[in-house]
Amino acid sequence: MEEMKEKYENFKEQVRAQADIVRIISDYVPLKKKGGRYWGCCPFHGEKTPSFTVDESKGLFHCFGCGVGGDVFSFIMKIENCSFAEAVKFLAGKFNIAIPEREKNPEEIAREMQAKEVYIANEMAAKFFQSCLVNTRYGEIGLKYLAARGITRKIIDSFVLGMAPPDYNKLHIALKGKGVTEDTMIKAGLVNQKGSGGIYDRFRGRIMIPIRDIRGRVVGFTGRVLNKEAKEAKYMNTGETEWFSKRNILFGLDAALKSIKAQQKVVLVEGHMDAISLHAVGITWAAAVMGTAFTEQHARLLKRLVPEVIFSFDSDRAGAEATVRAVPIALHADLRVKVMQVPDGKDPDDFVRKHGKEAYEKLIEEAIDGIEFQIKRQLEENNITTLAGKVQAVSNILPFLLECKNDIEVAQRIRDLARRITIDEGLIQSEYNKIKHHNKQDNFVPNAIYLTPKATNISEQAERHLLFALIKSKDVLTENLLEQLKKIKFASNERAEIFDKTIFQLRKGSKNLSVDLFEVLAENSASELTNILRMELPSTELTEMLLDCLRQLRLAALEKEFEQHSFSAAEYEKQGNEKYLQELSECRRIKNEEKKIILLSNEAKSKQNMN
Ligand code: UTP
Ligand code: MN
Repeated sequence: MEEMKEKYENFKEQVRAQADIVRIISDYVPLKKKGGRYWGCCPFHGEKTPSFTVDESKGLFHCFGCGVGGDVFSFIMKIENCSFAEAVKFLAGKFNIAIPEREKNPEEIAREMQAKEVYIANEMAAKFFQSCLVNTRYGEIGLKYLAARGITRKIIDSFVLGMAPPDYNKLHIALKGKGVTEDTMIKAGLVNQKGSGGIYDRFRGRIMIPIRDIRGRVVGFTGRVLNKEAKEAKYMNTGETEWFSKRNILFGLDAALKSIKAQQKVVLVEGHMDAISLHAVGITWAAAVMGTAFTEQHARLLKRLVPEVIFSFDSDRAGAEATVRAVPIALHADLRVKVMQVPDGKDPDDFVRKHGKEAYEKLIEEAIDGIEFQIKRQLEENNITTLAGKVQAVSNILPFLLECKNDIEVAQRIRDLARRITIDEGLIQSEYNKIKHHNKQDNFVPNAIYLTPKATNISEQAERHLLFALIKSKDVLTENLLEQLKKIKFASNERAEIFDKTIFQLRKGSKNLSVDLFEVLAENSASELTNILRMELPSTELTEMLLDCLRQLRLAALEKEFEQHSFSAAEYEKQGNEKYLQELSECRRIKNEEKKIILLSNEAKSKQNMN
């Protein structure tokens, strides 16, 4: 026993010694050396500027943004979602270090037993639901419903689809009878506990779809209501548990595993039923993101299995928007990305049932590549018949070009873009070079746009920030605020025009403010608006930002007034004119007002810092 412990300690230290923390972390996060440390964007919370750092000599990492930190083992535990022992094993595997047989500590044993019990309970529940569906009178309406959706007995069996009875405790009783503890049922999310201690089944009267992890273990369920008129949500999931998290799991991936490896690609759909229908017709390399956003975890999971992902989200606006967000995440995980759309019907489920396997496979073949999808969308979303629209489209497209594999591809795409948008190719190329250059220096902000010319002074910047806040957040505008805003004398005609038309559009109740503005603005003002909208500013606390800009502009205006009055005071005094006293008192009034504003501004800032 003691000997074993020592052996394991040695093994662990051997792994630690060989597992170069920078190299390991680089597999997940691009790192860059700066001042003796390595920096990158934290993989554990969304960020655009790097606050995640690795200290090579100490073998530690730390994120200043979200506070996570630790050694190479804790990094692997977090990123691979595994236990300490698994992390050691994982790293040992990477470095070909032989793993000594060892005994587990009591904590690990308990954890594993608990997990096993949850999996077993879930598996029993799946069987119970299925039996309700196919063997009992409760199941009759369920079978009818599934048949109407074209789901055969074969599919019911392969996905172990089921039906939760409408009663409040049938599953509870069944599992109890099989020796499952209430504690485990609760941990698995199969039953809920009322405040009074009573226990009731979480899923009732729904079609049940077991959700499995990649190893095929049932980690949770999704239940679909039968009738459309039901007041409850159409789909209900197991709550997030240690084992079930939508961010990490793709529905159907276990069933798809073999064929996605054979196909070297995976089709990703939005809903469970889409994946089920595709499998049903024989397109078995499909999995679903259970109606949530496609995450970096999903991308990493897929990257380990296949080189290519094809997004086949719903053919509605929400689907398109989800695709726009998903593509860069997949590209960033180094996956080849394609996007397809079903032309007839809302989603792949509809389409494949109407038109069959071959028609869908044809669509897969016709899928366009991810970068082209983003470009096409930008050309559609911006009015590229105007200069402002072209500028906007190009600047939105440039960051995507950074994801291209090589310069030949970039050149090809730029040539193509220049032709489609009728802008000089050389101009696009030089803008691209600028952001590429910028990106090299600061490798971590792939989507940032840097083309906004620098403001020449504080007032100019304040005016731009103020317009940004006003346009981005339509609801900040109150009558009181408007009165104050109207007093601003904008330093440029363009910004004055933007302001006037913004107010006009807001009063008109414009739904799509920036689009409407581009329609009505003169060319020069439109290009200033492009500058403003391109600024990389936080989009929270817009009211604070706006008020702060107002104060800055007010201060600048007061300072100008002060200069005038102190100049006249000096003049009058020279002339021996008594009016100089009046001017001096004006000067004092102005300084007092400035003081008040500075005080207010400091108060606001310290309040914000406290939050
Ligand atoms: P959809 O509303 O597009 O449903 O939601 P669907 O996939 O077409 O389902 P059917 O064909 O009507 O049965 C897409 C996905 O969003 C999630 C589900 O994963 C669903 O498959 N969703 C939707 C929920 O989680 N809860 C809901 O209430 C609705
Ligand atoms: Mn559907």
